[in-house]
Amino acid sequence: MRSYKAKSVEPIRLPPRDRREAALDDAGYNVFNLSSDDVYIDLLTDSGTGTMSQEQWAGMIQGDEAYAGSRSFRRFQQSVSDVMGFDHVVPTHQGRGAENVLFGAMLEAGDVVLNNTHFDTTRAHVVNQGAEAVDCPVEAPWSAGDSGDFAGNFSLERGWEAVEAYGAASIPVVVLTITNNSAAGQPVSMQNVRETAAFAEEIGATFVIDACRFAENAHFITQRDPEFADTPLAEVAREQLSYAEAITMSGKKDALANIGGFTAMRDPELFERCKQRAILYEGFPTYGGLAGRDLEAMAVGLREAVEPPYVQERIEQVATLGTLLEDEGIPIVTPTGGHAVYIDAAELFPHIPTGEYPGQRLVCELYREGGVRTVELGSFAFPDTDRPEFVRLALPRRTYWREHLEHVAETAATVREQREEYVGLDVVWEPPMKELRHFSAELEPVA
Ligand code: F0G
Repeated sequence: MRSYKAKSVEPIRLPPRDRREAALDDAGYNVFNLSSDDVYIDLLTDSGTGTMSQEQWAGMIQGDEAYAGSRSFRRFQQSVSDVMGFDHVVPTHQGRGAENVLFGAMLEAGDVVLNNTHFDTTRAHVVNQGAEAVDCPVEAPWSAGDSGDFAGNFSLERGWEAVEAYGAASIPVVVLTITNNSAAGQPVSMQNVRETAAFAEEIGATFVIDACRFAENAHFITQRDPEFADTPLAEVAREQLSYAEAITMSGKKDALANIGGFTAMRDPELFERCKQRAILYEGFPTYGGLAGRDLEAMAVGLREAVEPPYVQERIEQVATLGTLLEDEGIPIVTPTGGHAVYIDAAELFPHIPTGEYPGQRLVCELYREGGVRTVELGSFAFPDTDRPEFVRLALPRRTYWREHLEHVAETAATVREQREEYVGLDVVWEPPMKELRHFSAELEPVA
């Protein structure tokens, strides 16, 4: 049963078909180029797109906009301490700001960073420090079908292989991303958090958690690990983070805010270095590029994120979207992850070869048929890697209702029926940095 109701609503409309056709053409078959007015159901990301609670809005009006030492910062700091167990916190404008501040304070050129799977911006900030980013995922889930309970885990076997290849001395940082966004949003087990922490300690590396979706990860642990079946969610959420020396956080995910982020750590000396970098890149360390009201939104949101009814509904809604799609014969990664459903476009469109971007074609057709915006995370977004042809349907938090999800599933069903008609796509323009091409490249159907 839902534990909230709507108080303020935002009108949306499905533009007429000819408008969608024209918009897709004008966008160069890239949905990042669409105006949001032309989108009916927006599943592009779960980042900063959720609905805030009345308590968050009430907190915002109390925002203290003092440049230094604001009350809002202290309230935010107290929430981070209570919910996540870190007393030294540096706010930043969003998650990637936290990555820049922390990694810049920890890494040197030539270093190697291990991660279950680096999220794109995490990888970019490691590389930006002159370091190398090495992924150590477990095998699953690289295709549709059952991926197991904790397919987001860090592979210790791969971790030790990396130690062999690079030498422990070159690996100052080991990161664990919970949940693992780049591995279909799959969770990481508590045992894996403990083992990865022990592994980092053994090789003399600092253990960092990318905590963007820490509450969602904690919920999976209470559901799938008998050891935690009776432990309160908030305790599990804290225990996961208790093994880390530092965290990076995007407030746009499990702090239920529309903007914001932070990094937090235990070592006072590292804290000091991060504060200095924050002044340079983000702002004075008690506001970090945010308004006081944004800190209030995160302060309240962090506490709401670990309330069991909220998280349970959240994860169940993602699972419901998965079931509705499966009922229409759409191949997805199961069990569904925390924030999104991942469709295997290569399996849905077997007649479109990898080089012609079956995932991007699916993204375009979901928009054309139903005004549904999703994102390709396959060979278009990650050129020159062997990623599966995933299309991600990310659900904003507390925002859409079952009827919206049914529309998405009906749209996918229509696309599936018409699949023989679709041909692949060619990239006709791309920006100089190929890693960022999916944000702005333009495509057209192959001749
Ligand atoms: N780490 C992870 C695991 C993420 O998923 C993201 C953002 C970030 C770091 C960076 O945070 O956006 O606040 O700067 N993921 C969004 C997404 C953009 O759509 O998956 P940010």
